Amino acid sequence: MTSSKIALITGGSRGLGRNAALHLARAGVDIVLTYHSRRAEAEAVAAEIADSGRKAAALQLDVGESAGFPAFAQALAAALAETWGRKSFDFLVNNAGIGINVPFAETTEAQFDQLMNIHLKGAFFLTQAMLPLIEDGGRIVNLSSGLARFSLPGFSAYAAMKGGIEVLTRYLAKELGPRHIRVNAIAPGAIETDFGGGAVRDNAEMNRAIAGATALGRVGLPDDVGGAVATLLIGETGWINGQRIEVSGGVFL
Ligand SMILES: NC(=O)c1ccc[n+]([C@@H]2O[C@H](COP(=O)([O-])OP(=O)(O)OC[C@H]3O[C@@H](n4cnc5c(N)ncnc54)[C@H](OP(=O)(O)O)[C@@H]3O)[C@@H](O)[C@H]2O)c1
Repeated sequence: MTSSKIALITGGSRGLGRNAALHLARAGVDIVLTYHSRRAEAEAVAAEIADSGRKAAALQLDVGESAGFPAFAQALAAALAETWGRKSFDFLVNNAGIGINVPFAETTEAQFDQLMNIHLKGAFFLTQAMLPLIEDGGRIVNLSSGLARFSLPGFSAYAAMKGGIEVLTRYLAKELGPRHIRVNAIAPGAIETDFGGGAVRDNAEMNRAIAGATALGRVGLPDDVGGAVATLLIGETGWINGQRIEVSGGVFL
């Protein structure tokens, strides 16, 4: 019997990471998910996956602290050995993140650095630290944002980092090609999660405005993105490489 594939999903305790984990688990993939502070939520996701018959582990990780990545790699290697008897995993989803909505003129260096550390430096060096653990032929999905294509006031720093992740996606696809590792970016539109204080979900006016600018007439739900992430990782999509795929229902077309 061939062993099942394993996906590492950062920020799997809530929102899009959680949803992608559940989609993948339903499709037969085992999951290592990370959380930052919400351990109970992460363990609940792992328990839900275990109940469905797949294996899952939850590990703590701050993607904004690259100094912690070697220790995380060790913890991950120990979990892979203990739970799966393996030295490697198959899919990496660089998903963890926060939103800061502040006008360009008022953005502080501390806010810029926090977004940089989490969204760009974190994904860059975490992927680097994971390279020895990712199977040849594996796949990586980086979470970008629709805001890297269109511009809404208040997201200059956040969107600049997401633009960076799209460029990084192409470079990773190029440099990891010899190992047959496919690397793509998914750029969600506005999705109803806790992200940015849950504004898309909880602010009716914002929700209506985005729905009105979307070809399919509503904002996104976690299932809209989780399903797309899973498809890119396990679907017959292996010739898609180095691409940015917007998952937004067609916003601002
Ligand atoms: N929702 C949207 O509208 C939207 C649109 C475009 C792109 N995105 C992108 O999609 C990704 C996921 O967003 P989401 O909507 O799922 O957000 P969310 O519901 O707020 O969940 C964020 C997740 O990231 C984790 N996290 C936050 N800061 C972290 C840190 N410093 N280190 C490690 N993990 C951290 C959280 O862990 P804890 O639970 O432990 O706090 C949680 O699991 C992000 O990269 C975001 O930029 C979201």
